[in-house]
Order: sequence, then structure tokens, then C-alpha cells
Amino acid sequence: MKIAVVGLGYVGLPLSLQFARSGVTVLGLDIDTHKVDLLNQGRSFIKHIPAEIVTEAVKNGIFSASTDFSRIREVNAIIICVPTPLNKNREPDISFIIETGRSIARHLQQGTLVVLESTTYPGTTDEDLREVLEIGSGLEAGKDFHLAFSPEREDPGNPDSKVASIPKVVGGFTPACLDKAKELYSKAIKTIVPVSSCRAAEATKLLENTFRSVNIALVNELKIVYSAMGIDVWEVINAAKTKPFGFMPFYPGPGLGGHCIPIDPFYLTWKAREFGQHTRFIELAGEVNTAMPDYVIRCVADALNERQKSVNGSKILVLGLAYKPNVDDERESPSYVLLEKLKARGAQVAYYDPYVPIIRPTREHAHWTGTKSVAWDKETISSYDLILISTNHASVNYEELAQWAKCIVDTRNAMASITTTPGQVWKA
Ligand SMILES: NC(=O)c1ccc[n+]([C@@H]2O[C@H](COP(=O)([O-])OP(=O)(O)OC[C@H]3O[C@@H](n4cnc5c(N)ncnc54)[C@H](O)[C@@H]3O)[C@@H](O)[C@H]2O)c1
Repeated sequence: MKIAVVGLGYVGLPLSLQFARSGVTVLGLDIDTHKVDLLNQGRSFIKHIPAEIVTEAVKNGIFSASTDFSRIREVNAIIICVPTPLNKNREPDISFIIETGRSIARHLQQGTLVVLESTTYPGTTDEDLREVLEIGSGLEAGKDFHLAFSPEREDPGNPDSKVASIPKVVGGFTPACLDKAKELYSKAIKTIVPVSSCRAAEATKLLENTFRSVNIALVNELKIVYSAMGIDVWEVINAAKTKPFGFMPFYPGPGLGGHCIPIDPFYLTWKAREFGQHTRFIELAGEVNTAMPDYVIRCVADALNERQKSVNGSKILVLGLAYKPNVDDERESPSYVLLEKLKARGAQVAYYDPYVPIIRPTREHAHWTGTKSVAWDKETISSYDLILISTNHASVNYEELAQWAKCIVDTRNAMASITTTPGQVWKA
């Protein structure tokens, strides 16, 4: 069996390697020639994916990458893992899926299975993608080719999260499409969870991400409320999570980041309007979560004020640019919002992140491109008036930070077990 994985990013690359590891020949397709070249040289561009795994798969001939979509003709199944961002009006942008659909359609063969994995609103697979595939190929879904949706459940940076052991939800356009998709994924993944339709599978992913967004908003709000009452929300969550049933811990932070949680629920909000429905939990969670950076900035101002300083003119270092610990992915990171807001208030800002030595070009934060992480040494760190911990990477030496930093605002409880001086650390 030979498959194509379209979109070799944080989702597509580990998935390709998992299939390759399971003995399925994988052709990775991407429009980014740089990524394709790196992969064919056996190199990895994602920190938590070791180059050796890519090298071995390329050497064995079980994985190769290409920009040539006509090679779709060689494969039995195609899995699409392209981005699904929001546009500037915060509406779903499925143009990457549509573009991919068009590139595939021209070369689509009878009997091929097409599976969409990109997170999106219910109806994308059996309405939007189906339409471009059918028009471009002249073939009919469910009759001439198979169509399915299966949401990705990648948890970047979590060493216990292995693609093969995460149950895979699959929905088909027809029962035969579902059977084909089950057959495909069972080659590489242990547990398959079939659902009745592509829409049910799409909706499952949105429930999972909305669940996170709403619960994070809840603890973010409680952080502010408890802080006003002199109660430490981290202590409360740690105590509550000892309950062996009916509670799952979520942790507050400086705002939401990443490619999923801040974005995906709004795909549902948009689609719900078509049915005259409102997603009040999603809107409220979005409101609470996007207000968090302002709360953090107020804490920064208070901490500086205590030292007879203002934000304006202070040197502030944001520690952690990635949106979550131990990954190099800084897309949609709240650290950018903090940097922007502090800069707008006249602070001299910089960042430190061992995973992001230099800011790569991104659509959202183009003007930060090329900015470098500062060095980690006593002279540099102690030169800042305030260090704002935005991401708690495990590899940062927080003991050194406590020795070097004048003042620390900690949004992640990273300093909880570190010896500090009274008044040095502010929880935000
Ligand atoms: N990153 C995660 O943790 C995660 C988890 C679950 C689901 N998802 C979802 O998976 C999807 C992909 O996310 P990602 O994080 O892997 O994105 P990514 O940006 O890391 O990778 C997407 C890749 O698609 C390529 N691409 C874009 N347009 C293309 C086209 N027309 N043809 C071929 N390739 C194209 C890009 O060059 C890039 O390499 C999104 O829908 C996302 O919401 C992501």
C-alpha cells in the first residue's frame, strides 16, 4: 500500500512517519519546497521530531517528499493535513483545503480514498471538499472514490503522546468510505473509533477543542477572582485534582495560544449561524481568554510600580515565546500579544526562548521576523527590570533565574518550587 500525506507540518509529518514505521510507503506532498528538500535530505524541521527518524525512513525508501501533485496517481489513499486558520475577520479560512482539493482532483484515480484531517466545521468534507474533488476529477464521491474525515489528535511536546496509541475517530461519506478509512488507519493506529458521518467526526474534534477552551477560560477567570481574595488558584487546582472522579485539571495562563484552541471553536460559531444558533459558551470563553494578556500587563505594571518604576522606559524580558512548554511552535502565542502591548506602553522588550532562537517569518507577526532570543547568562538576565514568564519550558534554569532576576512576573507558576526573595515573584 502507498499513501500520500498532503501538508507536512506539525500534524502531517508525525502521521507520515507513523505510517512509514508501520510499513506503509508514504509520499509526503507540500507546496513548501524548503520543507520538501530538508525531508528528502533526512532532516527534521520540528524540534520534537528527531532527524534520525526521518533519515531512516528516507534511507529505507519508505518515505519521500515531493511538490509534484501528479504523483497522487501512484497512491491508494490521500490524507490532507493543511492549515485551517481564521481570516482577519475571525471567520474560517478553508482556502488551503480548497486549494489542496483542486491540486488533487486533477490526478484523482478511481477507487482512491481521500481523508481530510484538518480541523474544520461540520460539512467541510461532504460539502466543500467533495465539491472541488468531484468538479476537478469528474468522479463521484462514494461511487468512484472514497471520502472520509478523521480529526488529528496530535499533542506536540508531550513525550507520552504517541500517534499510534491515540484512538482515531473516523467518519465516512458512505458506509463503504468508512470501511476504507478504517482499513487505512488500522495499519498504523491501534484503536479506531468509527462514527456515523464525516460531520459527526468533524463535530467531535470541535467538541474536544471547545471543551479545552471553555475550561481554560474558567480557570483563567477563577485566577483573577481568587487572586483578589488572596487565594492562590494553583494551590486550589492542585488540591481539587486529588478528587479521583468528576474533576479534570486545567491551568490558567497569559492567554490562549497555538493553532487549535484559540481558533477551532470559532469554526463552529460561524457554521452555527447558518442554522440560526448561537455558541454562547464559545464566545464567552473567547472573551475571557483574550482578555488575559491585559490582566498580565496590569500585574506587570503593579510589580514595576512597587519598585517606583513604570512600564514606559522599563526593560522587560518575556521568557518563553512558544505557546506551550517544550515545543518550538510560537504560532498564535500570547507572548506576541504581551510583547506588543508592553512595547505600545513604551517598554523596551526582548524575549528568551531556547526553542525559538530566531523568529521565523509568519503571516501574523511578520514584523518580528528575524528577532533573536537574548542569551541566557547572568549579565543579560540581570540587566532587565522585569522578567515575565509566559511559557514554562522545562529546560529553563529557574534557580538561576531566581538568582539573576530583579523582579519576576510568573503566569505559569514556574517559580512555585524555587527559592526566591520576598517580593521578587508576582503571580499573574
Ligand atoms: N498542530 C497541532 O497540534 C494540531 C493538532 C490537531 C489538529 N491540527 C490541525 O491540523 C491541521 C494542520 O495543522 P498543522 O499544525 O500541521 O499546520 P502546519 O502549518 O504545521 O502544516 C501545514 C502544512 O501544509 C502545507 N500546505 C499549505 N497549503 C498547502 C497546499 N495547498 N498543498 C500542500 N501543502 C500545503 C504547509 O506548507 C505546511 O507545511 C490544521 O487544521 C490544524 O488545526 C493541528
